[in-house]
Amino acid sequence: MSTDEMWAGGHPAYLDMDPGQDDVWALATALGVLQVLGVTTVAGNHTVDNTYRNAVNVLDVFGRNDIPVHRGCAAPLWHPLVTAPEIHGQTGLDGYAFPTREVTVADVHAVEWLASQLCSLSRSVSVIATGPLTNVAALLIGHPSVKPHLSGITVMGGSLSGGNVTPHAEFNFYVDPDAADWVMGSGVPIKMVGLDVTRQATVTRAEVEERLGSSSREAARMLVALFRFYARRHPDPHHPFPLHDVLAVAADVKPDLFEWRSIPLTVVRCDPVRRGQSAMIEEATDRQPVDVAVQIDVLRFFDWFWEALRLSGL
Ligand code: RIB
Ligand code: CA
Repeated sequence: MSTDEMWAGGHPAYLDMDPGQDDVWALATALGVLQVLGVTTVAGNHTVDNTYRNAVNVLDVFGRNDIPVHRGCAAPLWHPLVTAPEIHGQTGLDGYAFPTREVTVADVHAVEWLASQLCSLSRSVSVIATGPLTNVAALLIGHPSVKPHLSGITVMGGSLSGGNVTPHAEFNFYVDPDAADWVMGSGVPIKMVGLDVTRQATVTRAEVEERLGSSSREAARMLVALFRFYARRHPDPHHPFPLHDVLAVAADVKPDLFEWRSIPLTVVRCDPVRRGQSAMIEEATDRQPVDVAVQIDVLRFFDWFWEALRLSGL
């Protein structure tokens, strides 16, 4: 089936991810509300081999191994890789026993594959990035001809209100600040969905179990099991947890759920204290501003969230 034929319905998009617990929830909602043309994986929450295998396994559980998955960059552009097994587990996606099977790696690198895909399209399409921006930066640096084929890039990353890895930096921008700065200055239309809004939209284990716990769908069982692992350090079933990456899908599909500010941004690249900080450029600059989500309508977001999961068959 050609990519154009896959545009039978819905809003087409490519997902660049580092699954990753919250990436999986983003993928689950995307399957309900987007025409997912492909998934590319990047090193971040765990190694690129693990994020690749996790993406393949999750799509398999959803019965969607028709969606191509390609493995991307194994390390940030400059800095050594920092992962987060303490949150996501030793596999990058602990908590659910995926069937053990040989996962064959697609032979085309994610960046090359994405470049060829985008340039073959007759219409522009969006990319939703929920991990470090290494693949996306490599795409824009190595294949600038893709830019007219991109309607926009929606990024889960950054923060104007303090970090979650250091006091200044959000994880995705911390892992690859050079890539993040390149993407923020690329001139492609960017939506930045940072901690400023993702911290406002949290879910509890009690809600997840109430909504999905009685489903007979294996995908629902997987999500419940993964969330129990993700929430393992807080026995209180009503403890709130952010599902950061889901908000990038929501921002791509329903930007009216958010309040946006147009801000020229840079990302601190080398400073050992402020590495990864997303900072507003105060002085005159020729850098094109990015759209930064500064508020979210939490009630309408969760109506959208549970509906998107329902549409994905859960
Ligand atoms: O800071 C949150 C981001 O870092 C999310 O994308 C999460 O998956 C981790 O990659
Ligand atoms: Ca992620």
